[in-house]
Amino acid sequence: MQERIAEIQRSLGEALQAAPSKEELLSLKQKLVGKKGELPALLGELKSLADEERKALGGKLQSLRKEIEQSIAHALSELERAAMDEKLQKSWDDPSRRGSLFARGLTDAGLHPITEILQELEEIFSRMGFEILDGPHIEDNHHNFEALNIPEDHPARDLQDTFWFEDNTHLLRTHTSCIQIRGMKDRQPPVRFIGPGQVFRCERTDQWHDFSFFQLEGLFIDRNVSVANLLYFAQTLFEEIFQSQVEIRTRPSYFPFVEPGLEIDMRRDGGKWVEMLGCGMIHPKVMEQIGVDPTEYSGFAFGLGVDRLLLMRHAIEDIRHLRSGDLRFVRQFSRYRSGGIPC
Ligand code: PHE
Repeated sequence: MQERIAEIQRSLGEALQAAPSKEELLSLKQKLVGKKGELPALLGELKSLADEERKALGGKLQSLRKEIEQSIAHALSELERAAMDEKLQKSWDDPSRRGSLFARGLTDAGLHPITEILQELEEIFSRMGFEILDGPHIEDNHHNFEALNIPEDHPARDLQDTFWFEDNTHLLRTHTSCIQIRGMKDRQPPVRFIGPGQVFRCERTDQWHDFSFFQLEGLFIDRNVSVANLLYFAQTLFEEIFQSQVEIRTRPSYFPFVEPGLEIDMRRDGGKWVEMLGCGMIHPKVMEQIGVDPTEYSGFAFGLGVDRLLLMRHAIEDIRHLRSGDLRFVRQFSRYRSGGIPC
């Protein structure tokens, strides 16, 4: 009987090796452990054996049955999985890859130039040790205005025409300066972070103004930070972006959350001055709001107009092209043409 057991084990191994089909597996199971199969036959023969031998062989036969059942069940489930994989593979198959109707005229996709420049900016700032933070598009009165030293009836509210929600408390953020407040909730100086993002203004559009655009907020707080740091910093930033020398000039300006407030313009090759940056030294009232002692620390904040940067870099004549969704426009950008992301 020992030999027959070994024989069954061997034939099971061989049968499984041969990558059997589902039907073959089921009939193998039937043949070995089915009612009239080999194993029950062997079990039947046990009766005629002496006690001792019967026990020993009985145990062996039971574990052989287990082994047979388990390995066949395993092989069956593997088959099922392979069938499922194949089915999924087919259902995910993109017809455009098979040269069908959908593929006609498809070219590579690419990143929008705004996305590209944002990625570049994030890279430059990361190298300078800035964290990159985010904030919600839908803001509240507190973060967009009050915490930034712009109280209810302050005329500065008129500087930024706002899309308000009906509750008169929530709004589409008019600038990324709200990220100054949010970012400082769980940070202590020295800090440096940027907050890039889309902003919204209820304004008439023209070639330099759209009702929505991108800003990049920056905040830098440490001991002994001054306007000189800010100017050095702005110049370095522009030269990185344009990979050439640039000139900057400052004009006094007014934002309630900075004192003094400045506007930085830049130009290249003696060309036209373009306003790039609203900035200034963080106002003591805002310092208090964000829990920083203004007698110990100082800092600067700036809001960079990302779209403007792009317009200048590529000599684009109208900001409204950026959100027009016109493919003829976006296709002109270098990375779009040279190996974008294949779709
Ligand atoms: N939030 C200002 C704007 O949108 C820009 C700014 C940011 C000015 C930070 C000063 C400091 O116009």
